[in-house]
Amino acid sequence: MEKTIIAVVGGGIMGNGIAEVFATAGHLVYLYDVSPELREKALDDLADRLQRKRIRGKLVESVSDIMQRVRTVNTLDELSSAELVIEAVVERIDVKQDIFSKLDRICSPTAILATNTSSLSITEIASVVQHPERVVGMHFFNPAPVMRLVEVVSGRFTDSAVVEKIVQIATAVGKLPIRVTDTPGFVVNRVARPFYLEALRIAGAQVASVQAIDHIIKAAGFKMGPFELQDLIGIDVNYAVTVSVYESYFQEPRFRPHGLQRSMVQSKKLGKKTGGGYYTYDR
Ligand code: NAI
Repeated sequence: MEKTIIAVVGGGIMGNGIAEVFATAGHLVYLYDVSPELREKALDDLADRLQRKRIRGKLVESVSDIMQRVRTVNTLDELSSAELVIEAVVERIDVKQDIFSKLDRICSPTAILATNTSSLSITEIASVVQHPERVVGMHFFNPAPVMRLVEVVSGRFTDSAVVEKIVQIATAVGKLPIRVTDTPGFVVNRVARPFYLEALRIAGAQVASVQAIDHIIKAAGFKMGPFELQDLIGIDVNYAVTVSVYESYFQEPRFRPHGLQRSMVQSKKLGKKTGGGYYTYDR
């Protein structure tokens, strides 16, 4: 694939990882987040991760060569030359729509506007742009540099050529793109809802502790337990996805969020990113 300019909007866990994927593959990456501090932190986190990979012998190129291809920008206006924009900001429809309506005015008409949303409707996000044909879901998994799966989600009006282009791009950067339909939570996050929710109900009813549940689930062959996984994803992100799937399915009881999720978010125990969630971490 020709090396192009990729813009990433949101430099948190996912935006950061997505920037790493494209920069490592040789693309020029423009990274935007809301404040200079967050942009700086995103760059530092990315460089740290690359450095650790380099030490482990898992990186051919030098960290500085890769980092030279990553630029932070101070405004969305500076993303006008990007051929693909991947939005990875908070899981809120209002915030995502605001960004897409701005990107629609800023970016060239041929640019593809992709969202990394875990659960929100691609069609609804695309409803604020003039040409919804160019809006597509490009759903990476955490950690983005490691996980190969990318759900490629076509909204109601997404052009099939745009879907094909995203499949090509994802394949070229070493990912495994799979086309899915625009339904709440797509496939992975819909199938995974009961995994988290049933575990939360078991812990809430004190049938087993958080640690015991994770231990048992891993002993049964899963790579991670439901609580460890929530800590990795971010309890706030996982909760937002649960609420969104629940509301989108007209409050079907099987998707009902659990009070423990909300209280963890209210107490700002968000998982690894805050140093503590269901477990504590050395930051
Ligand atoms: P995060 O909380 O780590 O990062 C979100 C970032 O968005 C923050 O740096 C925040 O400052 C930034 N942001 C907020 N409003 C913004 C705006 N208006 N303009 C630019 N930046 C803004 O969240 P995370 O985990 O990276 O999630 C981002 C998206 O990726 C969400 O839609 C989430 O559902 C999705 N996702 C998350 C996964 C996970 O495991 N955490 C996995 C796959 C998708």
